[in-house]
Amino acid sequence: MTETQPLPPVTLVVGAAQGIGRATAETLARAGHRLVLADRNSEGLRKTATLIGGSVPTYPVDIRDHDAVAYVVDSIESEHGPIGHLAHVAGVFTTGSVLDSDPDDWQRMFDVNVTGLLSVLRSVGRNMRERRSGSIVVVGSNSAGVPRMGMGAYGSSKAAATMIVRVLGLELAQYGIRANIVAPGSTDTAMQRSLWQDPDDDTGARGAIEGDLSQFKVGIPLGRIAEPVDIADAIEFLLSDRARHITMQSLYVDGGATLRA
Ligand SMILES: NC(=O)c1ccc[n+]([C@@H]2O[C@H](COP(=O)([O-])OP(=O)(O)OC[C@H]3O[C@@H](n4cnc5c(N)ncnc54)[C@H](O)[C@@H]3O)[C@@H](O)[C@H]2O)c1
Repeated sequence: MTETQPLPPVTLVVGAAQGIGRATAETLARAGHRLVLADRNSEGLRKTATLIGGSVPTYPVDIRDHDAVAYVVDSIESEHGPIGHLAHVAGVFTTGSVLDSDPDDWQRMFDVNVTGLLSVLRSVGRNMRERRSGSIVVVGSNSAGVPRMGMGAYGSSKAAATMIVRVLGLELAQYGIRANIVAPGSTDTAMQRSLWQDPDDDTGARGAIEGDLSQFKVGIPLGRIAEPVDIADAIEFLLSDRARHITMQSLYVDGGATLRA
């Protein structure tokens, strides 16, 4: 008789309905993770699950709803077992100057990129602390580290998110739990294409690649924008035991665009 092996812990990907989150789910699935996917977009979630194949559980949730997040995390753990890895990718983006942007845009970006993230970290992180095991990667942005015209709200929300994760990494290190940030630059997703004149015209990436000195923005030294899988690979590495001595770091995956300023 063969002994049944215990199932590996679950990996939760938040923001898995499209873009970098979908690529992260696909990359982690290929690396052998037992996935559970969450996002507010249930149709996109189902599509990601179908692309991965097998039966990947999906949990529609808006991370702005603190109680809903706590409920979903409890449900995942009772239905599928402990969450051992968290990849938090969900985020929102709007541009506007510090002086003239709509206060509602600031609220929305902080509600999702900061407070929503915090709800996920608290629900997942407390259970990890209890078990003294886990690893966490949160997707930030290179705009957290360098001032960009029109990105006051977005960049500052990602700067806040980055520091929350670094402090969390410090607080959880004593439990053997790691927390890191992956900070993408321009990456080919719907969010990035919303900045282009024509979202369907691939030459829209040229602006990001060449930069715009009238906006004090250098281009991308590596001469390309990222594919979502480039970000996903960094997330996969940081979640894995190959990164067992790395915590509280912010890994910029931006083709050199910020000159790592
Ligand atoms: N694409 C880029 O150029 C770029 C650059 C730097 C950082 N980022 C960051 O990478 C992450 C992924 O971005 P993307 O380009 O794939 O964007 P995207 O808009 O394609 O995907 C974002 C995902 O987050 C989900 N989401 C948004 N608000 C949510 C909420 N309240 N509750 C649950 N889910 C929610 C969306 O439904 C969507 O599936 C974001 O955090 C973004 O800020 C992207």
